Amino acid sequence: MAGGKETNCPLCGRHCSADAPSCQRGKEYFRTDGASETGHTRHGCGTHCHGRHKHHHRDPVFSRMSIRNYTDQPVEAEKIDRILRAGMAAPSAGNQQPWEFFVVTDKKKIKELSGVSEYSVCAAEASVVIVPCYRTEGLRFPVFDTIDLACATENMLIEAAALGLGSVWLSVAPIEERIKKADEVLGIGDDLHAFVILPIGYPMKERDPQDRFDEDRIHYL
Ligand SMILES: Cc1cc2nc3c(=O)[nH]c(=O)nc-3n(C[C@H](O)[C@H](O)[C@H](O)COP(=O)(O)O)c2cc1C
Repeated sequence: MAGGKETNCPLCGRHCSADAPSCQRGKEYFRTDGASETGHTRHGCGTHCHGRHKHHHRDPVFSRMSIRNYTDQPVEAEKIDRILRAGMAAPSAGNQQPWEFFVVTDKKKIKELSGVSEYSVCAAEASVVIVPCYRTEGLRFPVFDTIDLACATENMLIEAAALGLGSVWLSVAPIEERIKKADEVLGIGDDLHAFVILPIGYPMKERDPQDRFDEDRIHYL
């Protein structure tokens, strides 16, 4: 183990042994316990890490980034299943779970979904697109339906990252025009509506996570 103060890596959350005596964000280097490799990667603070923090070991909450370009490598059915399970593991108001999930692999439909807005074109690159949808009827707390879907969506993005996959939130709701277009592609409407478009694929290239931690945003009372 390297000497110095033991702490957790701010990016991957794993136990680290820091070279510097105290954590000065953006200024110090970390070394993992017993690390013998010298794989260089970056922490959230932007400094290099001389440790074993390979991408798949990172805490996906901190390493998740929007990925808009994908390779042709097919996404395993088990991984899609995991992402769907992650979505359904989300909290929802009164546990009402107002969600339904469409898994789209039909190329024509994927192309149509990519045309829902000028901001969803990258969906055309993916071989699988998941569209989480929200019900509007029979809910205990209907006012929270899209908030519940946002929780499910974030879970899915994080799980995709944990599985080495890339995705991005391509917004549909609450923009009426986009909801209408996406609903038409899926053949839904009335009391079930598209919430978001999630292309899923293996990232064309890795992206360095950003550290957005800002102490000034924290207010202790
Ligand atoms: C509510 C919401 C709507 C978004 N809509 C789009 C979108 O329509 N198209 C897109 O390419 N990215 C969209 N994004 C992704 C954001 O651009 C992205 O999360 C943000 O730039 C931060 O980058 P990161 O996800 O890599 O951390 C959306 C994200 C959120 C949370």
